[in-house]
Amino acid sequence: MLAIIGGSGLTQLANFDVVRREVVRTPYGEPSGALMFGTLCERPVVFLARHGYGHTIPPHLVNYRANMWALKQARVEAVVSVASVGGIRADLGPGTLVVPDQIIDYTSGRKNTYFEGGEDPVRHIDFTQPYDGALRSRLLAAAAASGVAVADGAVYATTQGPRLETAAEVNRLERDGADVVGMTAMPEAALARELDMAYAAINVVANFAAGRGNSAEQICFDSIEAVLQEAMQRVRSLLAGLCAS
Ligand code: HPA
Repeated sequence: MLAIIGGSGLTQLANFDVVRREVVRTPYGEPSGALMFGTLCERPVVFLARHGYGHTIPPHLVNYRANMWALKQARVEAVVSVASVGGIRADLGPGTLVVPDQIIDYTSGRKNTYFEGGEDPVRHIDFTQPYDGALRSRLLAAAAASGVAVADGAVYATTQGPRLETAAEVNRLERDGADVVGMTAMPEAALARELDMAYAAINVVANFAAGRGNSAEQICFDSIEAVLQEAMQRVRSLLAGLCAS
């Protein structure tokens, strides 16, 4: 089954017929909200709002382990994450949809693994390609088939938040090779890999990152809302195309 994790601007899917909601308990605590089981284009899909259905859980307090564990228990095989980001690269301006292909992790203090030693043997995952290649290809094909423009490939810098970055920090992220910056890809992507679930993402550029483009002086929160609202319509078309594929 396919799971969709909705981020800022996507706490509900359109044309999603919910048949069951399930509050799941996990050894790691409570997920961000109930799992919504339903159908999208007649295909079974489970939806979870990463920040809670009232959008109350900030990125650094999301219980990523509980979320991914709950999805695994629901027999999810593939997870598509929808997450808003700031654009660093000049061609990734507000409203652009991006299917990233790499991650740099700048977070700290998050519970980022299920492998905690104790009696269990030490385990490492291969994370050379943090996003699942086949699921990325499906997303790109669905985008092409639905006529939704997406940028193929970007390096996602995951910052700790919840504050946005300084202009100097964004300069450093760019020097490191980052194209977009957000706060949620890690540890989500790594936990999915630990649980053997395919993971890919649609990033929605909500704003130019600090110090870039029209965020040269400051980031204007008023325009972010409108950008996300419009862009999420395209994300919904893309997701419908993905389910139909
Ligand atoms: N930085 C980090 N995360 C974000 C941004 C940003 O500029 N915009 C949306 N999520």
